[in-house]
Amino acid sequence: MARFASFVVLAISLVSSTIAFPASRSLAGLSIEERDAAVASLRPAYPRPPPPPLADDGTKLVNDAAHRWRPAGRGDKRGPCPGLNTLSSHNWMPRNGVVTPYQMVDATQEGFNMESTLARRFTYSSHLIDGNVITDLMSIGAKTDLTGPAPPPPANPGGLNLHGFIEGDASFTRGDAFHGDNWQFNQTLFDEFAEYINKYGAGNYNYTVAGEFRYQRIQESIATNPQFNFRRLRFFAAYIETIVGVNLFTDGRRDDGQVPLEDTRSFFQDARMPDGFHRAAKPYGLEGTDVVFAAHPFTPGSNVNGINSYETDTTSPDFGTDPDGCIQYAQFINEAVAPLYPNATGILRRNLNLNLQYYFDTFGGKCEQIFPFGKDDEDDN
Ligand code: HEM
Repeated sequence: MARFASFVVLAISLVSSTIAFPASRSLAGLSIEERDAAVASLRPAYPRPPPPPLADDGTKLVNDAAHRWRPAGRGDKRGPCPGLNTLSSHNWMPRNGVVTPYQMVDATQEGFNMESTLARRFTYSSHLIDGNVITDLMSIGAKTDLTGPAPPPPANPGGLNLHGFIEGDASFTRGDAFHGDNWQFNQTLFDEFAEYINKYGAGNYNYTVAGEFRYQRIQESIATNPQFNFRRLRFFAAYIETIVGVNLFTDGRRDDGQVPLEDTRSFFQDARMPDGFHRAAKPYGLEGTDVVFAAHPFTPGSNVNGINSYETDTTSPDFGTDPDGCIQYAQFINEAVAPLYPNATGILRRNLNLNLQYYFDTFGGKCEQIFPFGKDDEDDN
């Protein structure tokens, strides 16, 4: 019996030692031992610098023969971002939803005409916390079918789902993490969004709808989520993603900032461009954020003692107090990225530093650069 038991232990350890760490799974938050074992099993890649801005940056047909919609197939990953889900379902990025940061920046520019700085800032901030910096791969989600039951805990199932930095509370069509499923399409929330589209946009998703619904979703989270967190990077992301939807889901031939309800549903629910869809008429970055914010100016903060206990966090910047984004940058590096990778050395440190550099480059030299892992030694390269 004892012999059989030791055989089983040996067999299990052999099997587990041969199960490789998923190449697109983030190393963030692992213990140093777990991380070192994962790194040893992965094939490292050198993080390629991002592509330049588009040379030809006007509108064009993007739902073309080479980019027809196909629903996500078995094993393909989809997640909380309707824009990235759509790019994968239309073959602008790999259909399986596992991409390099280079491919993500390229696809958001080519497929939607997202402005280069914003595309790089979203991509590298996400990659630093949700991607695998050794293999240079990231997964846009954790599951193919975004309407079925959410997988059981752990709460972070992989993909762009690390809670509280970019993915966060008070999303338009995804629930708060406190309620269990923060990344799949939520029909009840979409129905409410549709009401706002009809009431404030005469059937179109536009900046007015974005401003009203942003405020409504904040109020709902204050009243229902005892752990509501609306600070730091999430505060900015929550406003910016509402205008990105308006700017980039508008057909570039019209360029009028009006996304019809049925097109909105198609993007958010099915990750599908309308037939004949043309990308934005010009590269769009943060245009409209000021309009949405001005509709109901709000301070960053959180519920501090259960529901309906929202308090402003005076250490968290907002659009007025951090115009160049330097406080935001420093807090993200020091509070989010640095603690996720203790004692980073070797290729891990080299790749972290390269990705940190690509992220820092989006601040246009206005901020003081931070090196949380030290600068590379010559022999790390
Ligand atoms: C550049 C790379 C991008 C990254 C890394 C990214 C990442 C994300 C993440 C993590 C979320 C979830 C945030 C939340 O909890 O609400 C999100 C939401 C969103 N993203 Fe993206 N995104 C990117 C590009 C795009 C593009 C190109 C579009 C539009 C064409 C887009 C439109 C949106 C919208 C509208 C939401 C809000 C969803 C909702 O509130 O239900 N994103 N994105």
